[in-house]
Amino acid sequence: MINSVTRFSFPTTISFGPGAIQQLPDNLCEVNIHKPLVVTDANLKTTDVYGTATAVLERSATPYAVFADVRPNPPVEDVERAVDAYRANDCDGVIGLGGGSSLDAAKVVRVLVANEGPLTRYDIQVGGNAQIQGPLPPMIAIPTTAGTGSEVGRCSVITDPSREKKFLVCHPTMMPSMAILDPELTVGLPPLLTAATGMDAFVHCLESLTAPIFHPMCDAIAEKGIELVVQYLERAVKHPGDIEARGYMMLAATMGAVAFQKDLGAAHSLSHALSTVCGLQHGLANAICMVPVMKFNRQAAASHYARVARCFGIHTCDMPDLDAADEAIAAVANLNRRIGIPGSLAEVGIMEEQFPELAAKAFADPCHQTNPRPCSKEDLLMLYREAHKQRL
Ligand SMILES: [Fe+2]
Repeated sequence: MINSVTRFSFPTTISFGPGAIQQLPDNLCEVNIHKPLVVTDANLKTTDVYGTATAVLERSATPYAVFADVRPNPPVEDVERAVDAYRANDCDGVIGLGGGSSLDAAKVVRVLVANEGPLTRYDIQVGGNAQIQGPLPPMIAIPTTAGTGSEVGRCSVITDPSREKKFLVCHPTMMPSMAILDPELTVGLPPLLTAATGMDAFVHCLESLTAPIFHPMCDAIAEKGIELVVQYLERAVKHPGDIEARGYMMLAATMGAVAFQKDLGAAHSLSHALSTVCGLQHGLANAICMVPVMKFNRQAAASHYARVARCFGIHTCDMPDLDAADEAIAAVANLNRRIGIPGSLAEVGIMEEQFPELAAKAFADPCHQTNPRPCSKEDLLMLYREAHKQRL
């Protein structure tokens, strides 16, 4: 029903295609960056991807500084150290190079360059978004995975070790000025990471599709993103050098992140806690938890899940929505199996003793508030149990 005023925007400029990284110097001029701080992680710094990016900068005699110490699930301290490096090197913009952690850290470096710290002030759960003043320094995002879609998002997920929680910093000005999607940068991703990050993109599309918020443009983008994952993720996992599959997966990831400006659902609350408490990779946690969450949502989200079934190529014409929803749930479990996602939380070493702590953290996470079926703490506990014992 159309009964409220909402706001839509899809503003990020995207340079997409194999070899797009070669245009980085022109792109920097376009967004008015003359000396970027490259924000990345220590592992990526040892790879050809980093070598390619810095070679492009050096060939064009672009001065730059590097902060390569972003850790997974980046803690506040990493962002603060990157801000110190930005100031010490007189940078005037940021390049985020890497997976979601590096891009998320790079996005909030700009918040702290233009606004007073500490970063925890800007936690969206305490109304911090209203404190952020723009403009922020310009940024180019160069993802090297196809999953988080952070390159087109307005939020960063940061870890606060003192509160043992992840928090969101969000503001429209945090969106990168430009994103460079070069599928050649993702061909070195190992199969399990390709699968896990790809399923993160899938879960973004799926959970945003079912979030009870009126946004038909996001819904259309979410559906297309699901279709692309169905068509290309298995290919990207099994044929790492398949540039077409890699390219479409990068697009699916951006679509997921554009779509989830609507918000997400319970799988993300479960997985945020699993990353904070157990260090489980975010996409892997989402992939394992999505099937029990779909079973939990089956009735409430039946018509949406019927659309998901159609994205998998299942003919649902004469099928009641609940039956189509069951088909969708089976198709997601089957996709997980085909791309090598571990079958349960038990298989990735999560122990039942951790569930009470996990459920408390998941309940404190805001994502489940837009799950199509409301979740109590007990429901989240039950979902952990289901994800622990399931056999995909
Ligand atoms: Fe995610």
